[in-house]
Amino acid sequence: MIVDFRPHARLRDRVPRDITGSVSPVLEALGEERADLARVRLVYDWVQYRENFRDVVDVRPILSRAAPGDDAFEVAVDVRRGAGLPLRELTAERLREKAGDVVFLEDWGPTRESRIWDFNTMYWSALRSWEEASGQEYEQALPGGRSDARNRDAAADVIRDLFAVWDRLADTGALPEELYVVELGVGNGNQARVFLDVFRDLDHVHGRGYYDRLRYLMCDYSQHVLDLARENVAGHAARVASYVAEASRPCDVLGFLRGRVFLVYVSNVYDNLPTDEVAHLAGRTYRVETRACLPATGAAELAAALSASPVEIPALVGELLRLGPDGLAAATPELFPGVAAAVDFWRRTWSMLRLKERYVPLGALDLYALAPSVSGEMLRPLLESGGDIRMHVSNGALAGFVDSLTLLHPFGMLVCHDLFVTDVQGYRTGFRGPGKYDGSVVNWVNGPLLAHVGRRMGFDVRFTPFRHTGGGNIVTLTAQVGD
Ligand SMILES: C[S@@+](CC[C@H](N)C(=O)[O-])C[C@H]1O[C@@H](n2cnc3c(N)ncnc32)[C@H](O)[C@@H]1O
Repeated sequence: MIVDFRPHARLRDRVPRDITGSVSPVLEALGEERADLARVRLVYDWVQYRENFRDVVDVRPILSRAAPGDDAFEVAVDVRRGAGLPLRELTAERLREKAGDVVFLEDWGPTRESRIWDFNTMYWSALRSWEEASGQEYEQALPGGRSDARNRDAAADVIRDLFAVWDRLADTGALPEELYVVELGVGNGNQARVFLDVFRDLDHVHGRGYYDRLRYLMCDYSQHVLDLARENVAGHAARVASYVAEASRPCDVLGFLRGRVFLVYVSNVYDNLPTDEVAHLAGRTYRVETRACLPATGAAELAAALSASPVEIPALVGELLRLGPDGLAAATPELFPGVAAAVDFWRRTWSMLRLKERYVPLGALDLYALAPSVSGEMLRPLLESGGDIRMHVSNGALAGFVDSLTLLHPFGMLVCHDLFVTDVQGYRTGFRGPGKYDGSVVNWVNGPLLAHVGRRMGFDVRFTPFRHTGGGNIVTLTAQVGD
């Protein structure tokens, strides 16, 4: 039997966590349930996100390609929430869980196709309703309570690099008239405003008239946030255009700019894009499949509040995701007498939402497309880096990254501030998501994979800790054509 205790830094707190105290009750429960210990993995994570998709104890089947009789299973424990709880009873409960203890909202599938991403999309499109109900703006849910994208020094560094490139091109008559900058995932536009304000100030001092040639393209898939951002940068209206665009496929909309963009600027977006997870356990490769569900007791509470039956809940959630809270209230006023009631249903459902997980054999890596034109073979060096590992594929981020690189001018660069795992070992030492930030999903981004793919495309890809605020987890990825 393997016991995988992920050595999160919090386990070394001044008051040490009781490691054995969290292993023995689980072993006792497995003994009482007469589990075949040869087929069990125990995995202990410190799940740092207060809101997430896991229970304190989860049981995950590890399916075998050979025969169902060879299936194994994993017992996963959240060490943070498990402290002081009766882990033996919780484990036994999970091992005995039966159909009917949860209400499923979808069938099994790769996580990047889960309904959690429909919730995520709805959050950004109906952000105003969520923020009104929660009483806080989305930035307050980000690490540190604000976005690093607002940092003026970080923006100034990037702008100085641009000026240096432009000066060299201008001196040889090779600088195009229009200087394109693309921002993907603009949120409330604070990043754009800081960039444009600092750009104008530095250009004034620099004296080469770049501001008047700047074309700043703000892109987002939510019309609502684009409207917010446009208002925020009204002082720069002549320099700015906005586009509804999918961050994982920017060229669908911006293809006309291939090879002409000097800066693609992305912050806190890649960690918000759909992703699968894969695992290499005991020499075999698996994809993690998930299934969104609600505890049956929670579904019953939701139903009671609507004077409906619990069996109606999956269909109502489906309607919520299809129509949004405004549409749901308009379509079913007898259940939701106003938008606020529909938003309340949304927020309560989201809070209870869990993901059941199972490991399914992945088969030949080259048959798994990580993103359009990126073969699963790119995962091999990471998966076979020694020892068991489970990691994110960051499919949406990878697709967006590859597509964005094709937009770059030969002297252009991509700059991305985000939560990156920068070393494969990072997947063995901590929990990397998914977590919930208010109504959105967060997963750390697989930096080694993006770097591997980017380098194969001829780009120099680097990671540096975000220098301008102390101690946070944000890392800056830069990519530019290699020498
Ligand atoms: C956490 S906010 C970041 C906002 C800003 N860049 C910052 O750092 O403060 C994430 C932004 O990405 C956008 N977004 C999320 N998924 C997207 C997708 N698939 N395509 C385009 N935009 C997306 C959201 O609408 C939101 O504006």
